[in-house]
Amino acid sequence: MQRPEWAPESIDIERPSVARMYDYYLGGSHNFAVDRAAAQAMIAAVPEAPLMAQANRAFMRRAVRYLASRGVRQFLDIGSGIPTVGNVHEIAQQEVPDARVAYVDTDPVAVAHAREILAGNEQTVVIQADLRTPEAIVNAPEIRALLDFTQPMAVLIVAVTHFIPDEDDPAGLIARVRGALAPGSYLVLSQASDEGRTEEEAFETLVVYRQTDNLLRARSRKALLPYFGGFTLLEPGLVWVPLWRPDPTDNIEDADRVVFMGGVGRLGD
Ligand SMILES: C[S@@+](CC[C@H](N)C(=O)[O-])C[C@H]1O[C@@H](n2cnc3c(N)ncnc32)[C@H](O)[C@@H]1O
Repeated sequence: MQRPEWAPESIDIERPSVARMYDYYLGGSHNFAVDRAAAQAMIAAVPEAPLMAQANRAFMRRAVRYLASRGVRQFLDIGSGIPTVGNVHEIAQQEVPDARVAYVDTDPVAVAHAREILAGNEQTVVIQADLRTPEAIVNAPEIRALLDFTQPMAVLIVAVTHFIPDEDDPAGLIARVRGALAPGSYLVLSQASDEGRTEEEAFETLVVYRQTDNLLRARSRKALLPYFGGFTLLEPGLVWVPLWRPDPTDNIEDADRVVFMGGVGRLGD
C-alpha cells in the first residue's frame, strides 16, 4: 500500500489504529483500508458505532462551548484524535477569541495531522504524549509555554480512558493530572460504558478492538465515577452523552444506544 504524505514513516499502515477508525466513523479521510475493515467489523457487531462517535463528539463540543461561555480560556485536550470538523480550538474561540488549546495524543497520525492544521496558530500547540505518563504532559515545555497552570483550565479526556486497562489505574492517572491544576479547573470526560449491554455485545466489541494496539474496555457508571475524584460533577452529572445539556433541537430518544457516558466536573476552591 502506498504511504500518503500525511502518514509518518514511523507508523505501521497495515495495522488498524483506534484514532484512524474513529476518523472513519466521523467521515474523515485520514484512514487506511485496514482501519476501514476494522471499523466495518465493529459496525457489524455494533451498528451504532458511527452514531456513538458523532454523539460523543457533539457532547465534547457542547461541553467546550458551555465552559468557554463561563469564561474558561485554556483547554488541555488529552487523546485529542485526528482533527476533524469542529475541533476544540474552533469551538472555544467562537466564544472566547483568545482561548488557548493544547492538544495531546499518542497516535503519530493524529499528532502529524494536528501539527499541519495548526501550523502558524499561536494559540494552540500539539504534542505526542501518553496519558499513562501524566507528568510528561503537564510538565511538557510546549504546554507550559502556552497554558498557565496557576489559572483554571479545562482538561478534556474524551473517549480515551476505555483504551486504558484497570491495571494502569485510569482514576489514579487522572488524579495525577488533577494535581497540576488550579482550583476552578474542569474535567470533561466521556468513555464507553457497558451499562445495560448484553455480555455478547460487549464481547464482540472487545474482539474487534483486539486487532488494534488497544483493547476497548467499556465500564459501568459506578466504575467511572471515581475518575471524577476531587471534582464536583456539574448538572446533570455523569449521563449518556446525548443527555448532557442537549441543544433544544437534539434528539435524545434512545440516548443509551450511543454507549458513551460523559460528564463535566469542577475542581473546588
Ligand atoms: C476515540 S478517539 C477520541 C478523540 C477525541 N478525544 C474525541 O472524543 O473526538 C481516542 C483517541 O485517544 C488516543 N489515545 C488512546 N490512548 C491514549 C493514551 N494512553 N494517551 C493519549 N492518547 C491516547 C487515540 O490515539 C485516539 O486519537
